[in-house]
Amino acid sequence: MLRTTILGTGHYVPDRVVTNDDLAKVMATSDEWIQQRTGIKTRHWVDFAKEPMGSSDLGTRAAQRALADAHLTPADIDCIIYGTLSPDRCFPGDGVLVQAKLDVPAGVPAIDLRNQCSAFLYGLSVADAFIRTGTYRRILLIGAEVHSSGLDMSDAGREVSVLFGDGGAAVVLGPTEEPNRGVLSVRIHADGRQADLLTVAYPSSAMMPRVSAEMLSTGIQWPAMNGKAVFKQAVSRMPEVVLEVLKDAGLQVADIDVFVPHQANQRITEMVARRLEVPEEKVVSNIASYGNTTAASIPLALDEAVHQGRIKPGNLVCVAAFGSGFTWGAALLRW
Ligand code: ACO
Repeated sequence: MLRTTILGTGHYVPDRVVTNDDLAKVMATSDEWIQQRTGIKTRHWVDFAKEPMGSSDLGTRAAQRALADAHLTPADIDCIIYGTLSPDRCFPGDGVLVQAKLDVPAGVPAIDLRNQCSAFLYGLSVADAFIRTGTYRRILLIGAEVHSSGLDMSDAGREVSVLFGDGGAAVVLGPTEEPNRGVLSVRIHADGRQADLLTVAYPSSAMMPRVSAEMLSTGIQWPAMNGKAVFKQAVSRMPEVVLEVLKDAGLQVADIDVFVPHQANQRITEMVARRLEVPEEKVVSNIASYGNTTAASIPLALDEAVHQGRIKPGNLVCVAAFGSGFTWGAALLRW
């Protein structure tokens, strides 16, 4: 029986570090407010004056590092799965752009996912099905975001703009026949009734014209978020789906060695861990340095945890996410 394993991980963030004090210079916020509510101290943002980059550029660099980590080359990849909410273009998706930039051979499929913070779980779920059925053997799963060019830096946007960081991260997935190794269970969910609670709704194909100077003057192109509703749902959906994958695998919360939640905000992470009764020392958190990097957040945290020696062979790793849609999911992997 084939199972899906992670053969290599990598991430890339822009060099420019933006502190909370930097943000306080342009909007009505403070280091204290941001740290207290979110745990974020810094985030990396693309320096557009020095080196403009899109999500596909961060994704490409992250993928190069993941491939090197797996001791593979772009020619070994037989499928690309790419998640982002901040693509370089309306179409085509970043998947094909990364294929060209990496020089993955023509003919290899490139799938684009639109599942925001849950993109890694949605991608893992698709990749796992492909690998277990023998459809593809070397899948590059990438998540990358450039949020910084799409944030309202006025006081009106402060609740959202302080949360997000730019970054890319990738994993290379492949099959193993070793029993009890790799992805033991992965579950994904959605509830589109709550799409308006966290959204960038414009430019829109439902508007004629899709975008106009008049529309832009009202600020409708910026992200809109009901922070309290997001918080409430995140801290109930993530524990729920973690229990679901544990049940699938016949395991208990106490069996988890390392818990890697989507880095949405430190208070969400702490409440999810508390509700599940996962002790602090098992929880990976890097939000203080990167902010919320959405599709990149879980693979970035995984990459750091692996290379810091926090995730070791044989460990039971649990990953979980919640985000816009709403969408959510979790997976259990035996490393
Ligand atoms: N700096 C200073 N003040 C701010 C800021 C800011 N950056 N943003 C909002 N405020 C103000 C508000 O205007 C409001 O002022 P008012 O009381 O005068 O109206 C006040 O702060 C609100 O403060 P709190 O009620 O303490 O805010 P809350 O505890 O709800 O925290 C937060 C806000 C951090 C957004 C919280 O709701 C949250 O964490 N929600 C989850 C959001 C999230 O994680 N989104 C990420 C994307 S989705 C995902 O990844 C899961």
